[in-house]
Amino acid sequence: MTFEPRRFMNRYPEEGNDPVPVERYTSPDYFELERERVFRRKWLNVGNILQAPKPGDYFVVELKILDTSLLVIHGKDGVFRAFHNMCSHRGAPVAWDAQGSCKGYLACRFHGWVYDTTGKLVHISDAENFPGVKAEENGLTAVHCEVWESFVFINMAEQSEETLQEHLAPVSAEISRFDFSGFTPAFSYRIDEAVNWKTLQEAQLEGWHLPFLHEKTLARAVKIEGGQYRHAGIELYGLHGVLGSPAPDNFTPSPVAQLASQFGTGTVQAFGSKLENDGEGYHFRGSFDFWHIFPNFFVGLLNGLYFTFNIWPISVDRSIWEIKGYYPPVRTAGELFAREYSKVGLRDPMMEDCFTHELICAQMKSGAKKHIHFQDEEILARHLGNGVDLCVRGLA
Ligand code: FES
Ligand SMILES: [Fe+2]
Repeated sequence: MTFEPRRFMNRYPEEGNDPVPVERYTSPDYFELERERVFRRKWLNVGNILQAPKPGDYFVVELKILDTSLLVIHGKDGVFRAFHNMCSHRGAPVAWDAQGSCKGYLACRFHGWVYDTTGKLVHISDAENFPGVKAEENGLTAVHCEVWESFVFINMAEQSEETLQEHLAPVSAEISRFDFSGFTPAFSYRIDEAVNWKTLQEAQLEGWHLPFLHEKTLARAVKIEGGQYRHAGIELYGLHGVLGSPAPDNFTPSPVAQLASQFGTGTVQAFGSKLENDGEGYHFRGSFDFWHIFPNFFVGLLNGLYFTFNIWPISVDRSIWEIKGYYPPVRTAGELFAREYSKVGLRDPMMEDCFTHELICAQMKSGAKKHIHFQDEEILARHLGNGVDLCVRGLA
């Protein structure tokens, strides 16, 4: 099969074809604008309801880019809410663990003020010695919080400019065709990298590097034609987008992968499997689809599992890459083996990516190049930078 050259550029001419300034990856001033005009304004995914499945369960999100830590709590009334994790007395964290469960109340460990799951302050220790301090004025400080499918989003603007529904409108109906029920958190990775957050994401927004960088790992599970990787499809939806990865004609998993696939779905096997797209459900573009939800969230949909990436900037040259895999619950030792094998199968290509990201970031500081380039198969990576730049310039 041959592909028309510049097929995506022709379909999306508004994305342009100009070289991209390196300054966007190295300038502390540009990074400050990203912080204020992207991260302080846009809806951000901070987790999954499966991290707090029961009323009273909670988890804490370190949002370093906005200098805060958030408490996301599953209320006794079933509603998910988010608060700054900060006691109204003298500022101690209310929840000290990354994840936990309460019976309806959280007590500050410093002096015992107590909050309920709606953030209301319900007990002031030694209350008579706090003249004028009113419980009703000293609840936890709330942050906008909404759930879509199983994903929890927050918005840090005082008044959000759009609803979560509006933010996701270009992609939500399409992604919702995937059945997100029946999965459990299977594994997670958290990588602290010396890299700009956009460089980190760009390598996830194109598969064209697979036959080069991932020659010995992922490349075997995708279709390579004439030495080149060609996406099964790329579509842009507002600031968001999706890429589909092409299944190889004859995928032969390694002997261990074959063994693992007898017991359960594994990531590497799923990468290579051809999918039947009959019926009402989700329609795959390739052997797996990778959705980018602006500005820093990815949902990878595969046959029988899904995974997510959250990419969190810390500074202009440091970012956190959080990876979470969701699988059907494990019932047998064989299924556990398949799942563990799948987890390890993801680790190796990720290490190849990380190593490269850090080298790029270090070298960009040299000033040797003023610009970098994106080709047609990298249009989704270009699209991310375009979207960020529109926000930075106050146009999105
Ligand atoms: S800081 Fe929380 S009770 Fe004192
Ligand atoms: Fe990669």
